[in-house]
Amino acid sequence: MPRDNMASLIQKIARQARHTFRTLPPADGGVFQDHLAKLRKLLEKIRAEDLNLDPRRKCGPPAHPPRQGPPVTYMHICETDCFSMGVFLLQSGACIPLHDHPGMHGLLKVLYGQVVIKCFDKEEAAGAEADAGGVQFNPPLLQCQRAALRRSLRRSCDVLSEADGPCLLTPAQGNVHQIEARHGPAAFLDILAPPYDPSEGRDCHYFKVLQVSENAGGPGPGAPQQPVWLLEVPQPADFWCGGEPYPGPRVSPDGEAGWRE
Ligand SMILES: [Fe+2]
Repeated sequence: MPRDNMASLIQKIARQARHTFRTLPPADGGVFQDHLAKLRKLLEKIRAEDLNLDPRRKCGPPAHPPRQGPPVTYMHICETDCFSMGVFLLQSGACIPLHDHPGMHGLLKVLYGQVVIKCFDKEEAAGAEADAGGVQFNPPLLQCQRAALRRSLRRSCDVLSEADGPCLLTPAQGNVHQIEARHGPAAFLDILAPPYDPSEGRDCHYFKVLQVSENAGGPGPGAPQQPVWLLEVPQPADFWCGGEPYPGPRVSPDGEAGWRE
Protein backbone atom coordinates (compact mmCIF):
# COMPACT_ATOMS: atom_id res chain seq x y z
CA MET A 1 0.00 0.00 0.00
CA PRO A 2 1.38 3.47 -0.83
CA ARG A 3 2.77 5.15 2.23
CA ASP A 4 0.34 8.10 2.07
CA ASN A 5 -2.66 5.77 2.18
CA MET A 6 -1.37 4.44 5.49
CA ALA A 7 -1.38 7.89 7.06
CA SER A 8 -4.29 8.66 9.36
CA LEU A 9 -6.74 11.36 8.36
CA ILE A 10 -5.52 13.65 11.12
CA GLN A 11 -1.96 13.23 9.87
CA LYS A 12 -3.08 14.18 6.36
CA ILE A 13 -4.83 17.22 7.80
CA ALA A 14 -1.66 18.26 9.65
CA ARG A 15 0.46 17.93 6.53
CA GLN A 16 -2.06 19.87 4.44
CA ALA A 17 -2.26 22.59 7.12
CA ARG A 18 1.52 22.94 7.04
CA HIS A 19 1.42 23.08 3.27
CA THR A 20 -1.34 25.71 3.31
CA PHE A 21 0.05 28.01 5.95
CA ARG A 22 3.80 27.69 5.54
CA THR A 23 3.95 31.18 4.05
CA LEU A 24 1.77 33.82 5.64
CA PRO A 25 0.60 36.20 4.48
CA PRO A 26 0.15 34.09 1.34
CA ALA A 27 2.42 35.20 -1.48
CA ASP A 28 0.07 33.89 -4.15
CA GLY A 29 -3.62 34.21 -3.35
CA GLY A 30 -4.73 31.64 -5.92
CA VAL A 31 -2.33 28.95 -4.75
CA PHE A 32 -3.24 29.66 -1.13
CA GLN A 33 -6.95 29.30 -1.90
CA ASP A 34 -6.31 25.95 -3.63
CA HIS A 35 -4.40 24.65 -0.63
CA LEU A 36 -7.06 25.96 1.71
CA ALA A 37 -9.81 24.25 -0.29
CA LYS A 38 -7.95 20.92 0.01
CA LEU A 39 -7.59 21.42 3.75
CA ARG A 40 -11.29 22.16 4.11
CA LYS A 41 -12.14 19.00 2.12
CA LEU A 42 -10.06 16.88 4.49
CA LEU A 43 -11.61 18.55 7.52
CA GLU A 44 -15.11 17.76 6.25
CA LYS A 45 -14.32 14.05 6.71
CA ILE A 46 -12.90 14.07 10.22
CA ARG A 47 -15.02 12.53 12.97
CA ALA A 48 -14.58 11.99 16.71
CA GLU A 49 -13.83 8.32 16.09
CA ASP A 50 -10.81 9.25 13.95
CA LEU A 51 -9.24 10.82 17.05
CA ASN A 52 -10.29 8.05 19.47
CA LEU A 53 -12.37 10.50 21.44
CA ASP A 54 -14.31 8.95 24.27
CA PRO A 55 -17.74 8.08 22.86
CA ARG A 56 -19.32 8.56 26.28
CA ARG A 57 -18.87 12.27 25.79
CA LYS A 58 -21.15 12.08 22.77
CA CYS A 59 -24.18 11.06 24.80
CA GLY A 60 -26.92 13.62 25.27
CA PRO A 61 -27.11 15.96 28.22
CA PRO A 62 -27.33 14.16 31.57
CA ALA A 63 -30.15 15.08 33.91
CA HIS A 64 -27.69 16.92 36.11
CA PRO A 65 -24.76 18.04 33.96
CA PRO A 66 -21.42 17.55 35.68
CA ARG A 67 -19.90 20.84 36.61
CA GLN A 68 -16.72 19.65 38.23
CA GLY A 69 -13.50 20.63 36.59
CA PRO A 70 -12.94 23.23 33.91
CA PRO A 71 -15.84 24.11 31.59
CA VAL A 72 -13.50 23.69 28.63
CA THR A 73 -10.45 21.46 28.12
CA TYR A 74 -7.90 21.40 25.34
CA MET A 75 -6.11 18.42 23.81
CA HIS A 76 -2.93 19.59 22.14
CA ILE A 77 -2.14 17.65 18.96
CA CYS A 78 0.77 19.50 17.36
CA GLU A 79 2.34 22.88 16.78
CA THR A 80 4.82 24.20 14.22
CA ASP A 81 5.97 27.72 13.35
CA CYS A 82 3.07 28.07 10.93
CA PHE A 83 0.10 26.45 12.67
CA SER A 84 -1.19 24.78 15.82
CA MET A 85 -3.84 22.08 16.06
CA GLY A 86 -5.84 20.67 18.94
CA VAL A 87 -9.30 19.71 20.18
CA PHE A 88 -11.49 21.80 22.46
CA LEU A 89 -13.99 19.88 24.57
CA LEU A 90 -16.88 21.85 26.04
CA GLN A 91 -19.10 20.74 28.86
CA SER A 92 -22.82 21.12 28.29
CA GLY A 93 -23.67 24.82 28.24
CA ALA A 94 -20.03 25.89 28.41
CA CYS A 95 -19.01 28.93 26.43
CA ILE A 96 -15.65 30.09 25.13
CA PRO A 97 -16.26 33.80 25.58
CA LEU A 98 -15.85 36.45 22.92
CA HIS A 99 -12.17 36.53 21.96
CA ASP A 100 -9.91 37.20 19.00
CA HIS A 101 -7.00 35.68 17.06
CA PRO A 102 -5.15 38.77 15.89
CA GLY A 103 -3.59 38.39 12.45
CA MET A 104 -4.44 34.68 12.37
CA HIS A 105 -6.53 32.28 10.33
CA GLY A 106 -8.67 29.71 12.11
CA LEU A 107 -10.48 26.55 11.04
CA LEU A 108 -12.99 24.94 13.35
CA LYS A 109 -14.62 21.55 12.69
CA VAL A 110 -17.22 20.18 15.10
CA LEU A 111 -16.51 16.56 16.06
CA TYR A 112 -19.60 15.91 18.19
CA GLY A 113 -22.41 17.84 19.79
CA GLN A 114 -23.65 21.19 18.65
CA VAL A 115 -22.10 24.63 19.00
CA VAL A 116 -23.37 28.12 18.38
CA ILE A 117 -20.63 30.32 17.00
CA LYS A 118 -21.13 34.08 16.84
CA CYS A 119 -18.61 35.96 14.72
CA PHE A 120 -17.73 39.63 14.41
CA ASP A 121 -15.43 41.44 12.01
CA LYS A 122 -13.07 43.66 13.95
CA GLU A 123 -12.29 46.95 12.31
CA GLU A 124 -9.04 48.79 12.82
CA ALA A 125 -8.56 50.02 16.37
CA ALA A 126 -7.32 53.38 15.15
CA GLY A 127 -10.09 55.94 15.33
CA ALA A 128 -12.53 53.80 17.25
CA GLU A 129 -12.27 55.92 20.35
CA ALA A 130 -12.89 59.14 18.42
CA ASP A 131 -15.72 57.60 16.37
CA ALA A 132 -17.46 56.50 19.54
CA GLY A 133 -17.33 60.06 20.87
CA GLY A 134 -21.00 60.71 20.22
CA VAL A 135 -22.27 57.25 21.19
CA GLN A 136 -24.15 56.83 24.44
CA PHE A 137 -23.51 53.48 26.06
CA ASN A 138 -25.72 51.82 28.61
CA PRO A 139 -24.33 51.76 31.27
CA PRO A 140 -22.11 54.75 30.48
CA LEU A 141 -18.41 54.10 29.92
CA LEU A 142 -15.64 55.52 32.05
CA GLN A 143 -13.31 57.78 30.11
CA CYS A 144 -10.45 55.30 30.58
CA GLN A 145 -12.57 52.48 29.05
CA ARG A 146 -12.96 54.35 25.77
CA ALA A 147 -9.35 53.55 24.87
CA ALA A 148 -10.28 49.82 24.94
CA LEU A 149 -13.17 50.18 22.49
CA ARG A 150 -13.22 48.26 19.22
CA ARG A 151 -15.66 48.97 16.43
CA SER A 152 -16.94 45.77 14.80
CA LEU A 153 -19.63 44.39 12.56
CA ARG A 154 -21.74 41.30 13.14
CA ARG A 155 -20.72 38.69 10.57
CA SER A 156 -22.63 35.54 11.40
CA CYS A 157 -24.33 33.38 13.98
CA ASP A 158 -24.28 29.70 13.04
CA VAL A 159 -25.31 26.46 14.66
CA LEU A 160 -22.78 23.78 13.73
CA SER A 161 -22.71 20.04 14.31
CA GLU A 162 -20.52 17.19 13.09
CA ALA A 163 -22.44 17.01 9.81
CA ASP A 164 -21.39 20.54 8.93
CA GLY A 165 -18.21 21.54 7.13
CA PRO A 166 -15.47 23.53 8.83
CA CYS A 167 -15.93 27.16 9.82
CA LEU A 168 -13.19 29.47 8.47
CA LEU A 169 -12.03 32.60 10.30
CA THR A 170 -9.53 34.98 8.75
CA PRO A 171 -7.61 37.98 10.11
CA ALA A 172 -10.37 40.23 8.72
CA GLN A 173 -13.50 38.08 8.84
CA GLY A 174 -15.05 36.52 11.90
CA ASN A 175 -11.85 36.99 13.85
CA VAL A 176 -13.73 37.90 17.04
CA HIS A 177 -16.04 35.09 18.06
CA GLN A 178 -17.63 33.14 20.86
CA ILE A 179 -18.43 29.44 20.86
CA GLU A 180 -21.10 27.86 23.05
CA ALA A 181 -22.04 24.21 23.48
CA ARG A 182 -25.78 23.71 23.04
CA HIS A 183 -27.95 20.74 24.08
CA GLY A 184 -25.09 18.79 25.65
CA PRO A 185 -21.31 18.50 25.50
CA ALA A 186 -19.48 19.33 22.29
CA ALA A 187 -16.01 19.10 20.81
CA PHE A 188 -14.30 20.71 17.85
CA LEU A 189 -10.99 20.41 16.08
CA ASP A 190 -9.22 23.77 15.97
CA ILE A 191 -6.43 24.91 13.63
CA LEU A 192 -4.81 28.30 14.16
CA ALA A 193 -2.34 29.76 11.69
CA PRO A 194 0.06 31.06 12.71
CA PRO A 195 -0.14 29.99 16.37
CA TYR A 196 -0.65 32.44 19.21
CA ASP A 197 2.62 34.19 20.08
CA PRO A 198 2.44 37.26 22.34
CA SER A 199 6.02 38.20 21.43
CA GLU A 200 4.83 38.61 17.82
CA GLY A 201 1.69 40.54 18.73
CA ARG A 202 -0.58 37.49 18.57
CA ASP A 203 -2.09 37.34 22.04
CA CYS A 204 -5.69 36.49 22.88
CA HIS A 205 -7.98 39.33 23.96
CA TYR A 206 -11.45 39.03 25.45
CA PHE A 207 -14.35 41.34 24.69
CA LYS A 208 -17.90 42.10 25.68
CA VAL A 209 -20.59 43.59 23.46
CA LEU A 210 -21.67 47.01 24.67
CA GLN A 211 -25.28 48.08 24.71
CA VAL A 212 -25.93 51.37 22.97
CA SER A 213 -28.66 53.62 24.36
CA GLU A 214 -31.80 53.67 22.23
CA ASN A 215 -31.87 56.44 19.66
CA ALA A 216 -34.17 57.41 16.84
CA GLY A 217 -35.41 54.06 15.64
CA GLY A 218 -32.22 52.52 14.25
CA PRO A 219 -31.26 52.04 10.60
CA GLY A 220 -33.92 51.90 7.91
CA PRO A 221 -34.12 49.34 5.08
CA GLY A 222 -30.98 49.39 2.95
CA ALA A 223 -29.04 51.41 5.50
CA PRO A 224 -25.45 50.37 6.17
CA GLN A 225 -25.02 47.86 8.94
CA GLN A 226 -24.66 49.56 12.29
CA PRO A 227 -21.33 49.05 14.09
CA VAL A 228 -21.19 46.95 17.20
CA TRP A 229 -19.01 48.29 19.95
CA LEU A 230 -16.80 45.82 21.76
CA LEU A 231 -14.96 46.59 24.96
CA GLU A 232 -11.79 44.68 25.73
CA VAL A 233 -12.15 43.01 29.13
CA PRO A 234 -10.06 40.64 31.28
CA GLN A 235 -10.61 36.91 30.82
CA PRO A 236 -14.07 36.23 32.33
CA ALA A 237 -13.85 34.67 35.79
CA ASP A 238 -16.22 31.80 34.91
CA PHE A 239 -14.10 30.68 31.96
CA TRP A 240 -10.92 28.72 32.18
CA CYS A 241 -9.43 25.99 30.08
CA GLY A 242 -7.86 22.80 31.39
CA GLY A 243 -5.73 20.30 29.52
CA GLU A 244 -5.95 16.58 28.88
CA PRO A 245 -3.99 14.09 26.80
CA TYR A 246 -4.77 13.64 23.15
CA PRO A 247 -5.74 9.98 22.56
CA GLY A 248 -5.63 9.90 18.77
CA PRO A 249 -3.14 8.82 16.12
CA ARG A 250 0.33 10.24 16.29
CA VAL A 251 0.79 13.36 14.20
CA SER A 252 4.00 14.59 12.66
CA PRO A 253 3.33 17.54 10.35
CA ASP A 254 6.88 17.59 8.98
CA GLY A 255 7.29 13.84 8.61
CA GLU A 256 5.80 10.83 6.97
CA ALA A 257 4.73 9.00 10.10
CA GLY A 258 1.16 9.11 11.23
CA TRP A 259 -0.10 5.65 12.01
CA ARG A 260 -0.69 4.69 15.58
CA GLU A 261 2.29 2.93 17.17
FE1 LIG B 1 -11.19 31.10 18.79
